[in-house]
Amino acid sequence: MGVEVAVQGLTKSFGGQPVWSDITLTLPAGEISVLLGPSGTGKSVFLKTLVGLLRPDRGAILIEGKDLPRLSERELYEVRKLFGVLFQDGALFGSMNIYDNVAFPLREHTRMSESQIRAVVTEKLDMVGLVGAEKKLPGEISGGMRKRAGLARALVLDPQIILFDEPDSGLDPVRTAYLNQLIIDLNQRTGATFLIVTHDINTARTVPDNIGLIYHGHLAMFGPREMLLSSTEPVVRQFLNAQRIGPIGMAEEKDADELAAEAESGVELPPLPPIPLQLQPSDGLPRRAERPPGQWCREHAVTPPPGSFEGLRQVERPTIDLAEHLTDDPGRHGREVAR
Ligand SMILES: Nc1ncnc2c1ncn2[C@@H]1O[C@H](COP(=O)(O)OP(=O)(O)OP(=O)(O)O)[C@@H](O)[C@H]1O
Ligand SMILES: [Mg+2]
Repeated sequence: MGVEVAVQGLTKSFGGQPVWSDITLTLPAGEISVLLGPSGTGKSVFLKTLVGLLRPDRGAILIEGKDLPRLSERELYEVRKLFGVLFQDGALFGSMNIYDNVAFPLREHTRMSESQIRAVVTEKLDMVGLVGAEKKLPGEISGGMRKRAGLARALVLDPQIILFDEPDSGLDPVRTAYLNQLIIDLNQRTGATFLIVTHDINTARTVPDNIGLIYHGHLAMFGPREMLLSSTEPVVRQFLNAQRIGPIGMAEEKDADELAAEAESGVELPPLPPIPLQLQPSDGLPRRAERPPGQWCREHAVTPPPGSFEGLRQVERPTIDLAEHLTDDPGRHGREVAR
């Protein structure tokens, strides 16, 4: 079962330039949380700080009673085994083939024999649809395949906390849909605590239990999905609905003149779109942190946007073979079409 990650008053700067300050949030054990924010707001820095690759200026990161920034290198090494991380660029070793890249954490952190390692690596490569690409170097495969190799590597130690930095960037929409399903299924099967950084609004709206938004050096909001999807707070509303009108401009923040001009022109904000149902595990079992749709809104006397939670949950979901759909073997797709 996953573990809770409690972040308190976390602040990080580089050379006196603050990236973000005073971030306080709790990633609930076993739940999926998504972290959003305009480009350059420090989402990747936040993930790297969580795993102890970057040291915060101030604040606490509490995991199983330990405060990460206060641990010695040796203690940190132990705590890092709880984590699986998919870095934004995949962070594969360029001179190692895919198999060795995925096997690396097992060789580094366990005493498994090579045959045990082979079993685990093959299982994870199969899960992400990369069987057959073992001998390729990272430079010889597509960006999407590198992402999935990074994902396989993030999973080999059966981590309790999984951090994904834009798992869906560079993937086509169909693969993104399958990857999201894979994330839901993984969460349901492993019960690990997930944090996903994404720019994909559809992912943000349907995958997580909780959503957070970093904006202008601060955590604008963090909480249950329904809270943010029904929020009329200008930044949250603009970001989660991918709208042009609002405080966020091309260069992150609109200046006062632009905002005043928008206000003066009396542009009406488009209505909030309906809150969709959450993506469900493909085996038909409920999600780990399943809550009835609309429950948060009811409990907080918030009227969800019209049309929310529509579309009855499919009772029978077809079992899909994710590896089959994630594969890059064009022959397989060809055969599917031919069928
Ligand atoms: N090691 C570093 N040293 C100095 N500055 C850094 C370092 N890493 C990141 N930064 C700076 O911190 C800020 C936040 O960067 P970060 O990569 O976390 O943004 P991001 O939110 O992940 O953006 P994107 O959505 O484009 O991936 C940027 O201004 C970046 O230049
Ligand atoms: Mg980033």
